Amino acid sequence: MTNQNEICILAIESSCDETAAAVVVNGREVRSNIISSQIALHTIYGGVVPEIASRKHIEKINQVITEALNQADMTLEDIDAIGVTYGPGLVGALLVGVAEAKAISYARNIPLVGVHHIEGHISANYIEHKELEPPFLCLVVSGGHTHMVKVLDYGAYEVLGRTVDDAAGEAFDKVARAIGLGYPGGPKIEKASHEGNPNAIKFPRAHVAGESYHFSFSGMKSAVLNYLNGCKMRGEEIVQADVAASFQQAVIDVLTGNIGKALQETGMKKFAIAGGVASNQTFRSAVKEVCEKQDVLFYCPSPVLCTDNAAMIGAAAYYDFMAGIRSGLDLNAVPNLKLGER
Ligand code: KG4
Ligand code: ZN
Repeated sequence: MTNQNEICILAIESSCDETAAAVVVNGREVRSNIISSQIALHTIYGGVVPEIASRKHIEKINQVITEALNQADMTLEDIDAIGVTYGPGLVGALLVGVAEAKAISYARNIPLVGVHHIEGHISANYIEHKELEPPFLCLVVSGGHTHMVKVLDYGAYEVLGRTVDDAAGEAFDKVARAIGLGYPGGPKIEKASHEGNPNAIKFPRAHVAGESYHFSFSGMKSAVLNYLNGCKMRGEEIVQADVAASFQQAVIDVLTGNIGKALQETGMKKFAIAGGVASNQTFRSAVKEVCEKQDVLFYCPSPVLCTDNAAMIGAAAYYDFMAGIRSGLDLNAVPNLKLGER
């Protein structure tokens, strides 16, 4: 049931391999957050197969929406707006969510709000930190993105740095595959790292010259591949846990190095992390330490709100909705949508 001061958003997310729907009230209160993960399905192929992802989204989308409404004890009559991820992501996957959202918006005459996926990841921080308001600095680290973002206001972003090649999560996934851990790489590397020595192998920490807050991970991934080849040629044993721990440490050092520098140079006093890699406990502790040293307030979503979900899309959609942003029924999936673009 709803009251008049509540804006209830039904949010839909289908940009990659999670079919998700959520009901979020006033941007910060999650009434339901249903996620149908396709991970098991893609594991046998060693990564996300776009065509399979799209088909599975079609199968699951109505189911997750019904479940989200039921769990929130609501019907579509109680919903004030539909928020949906329309980019970036896999085009076929995005289209399923966008088409569904448009159909509900049209049939029920409910406003539609297209949401940028990264804006969703950043907004995940609002859900459990009711006091968090812009401006703050946020590092988004996911499978497709590594962005250092200054959140100027709700819906207003300045990208201070990004990866010049692979995203951090992508590097985790590629290295995991190379050392035989399989997909999805991030959680498997994190688990294996607990048994390994982070100082066993010295992988390079790449810093991008000139551009202050940019990142590069493809060199680090190549260094791991070279190390593995070298071991094989010399007939030396490869200790999977040591490679996992040493690689993870190298990524964390690069990320935290950049965070420390950005905090010092911008003077921002609030720092947040977001995206799938932000669910990594070793990374979370390392960032917390950097923030504490610089007397900066640190925010991070619970792991389930770091990886793809629809609650974060509902949080972002609320602030767009309140700013008067509406999407038309001509809303399309935009696979390469840039942050801050509409
Ligand atoms: O945000 P997300 O769910 O999807 C994208 O928007 O890309 O992020 C998925 C990425 C994958 O690359 C995955 O390996 C990585 O986040 N990831 C992790 C962990 N959990 C997920 N990386 C490191 N440690 C983890 N625990
Ligand atoms: Zn994501």
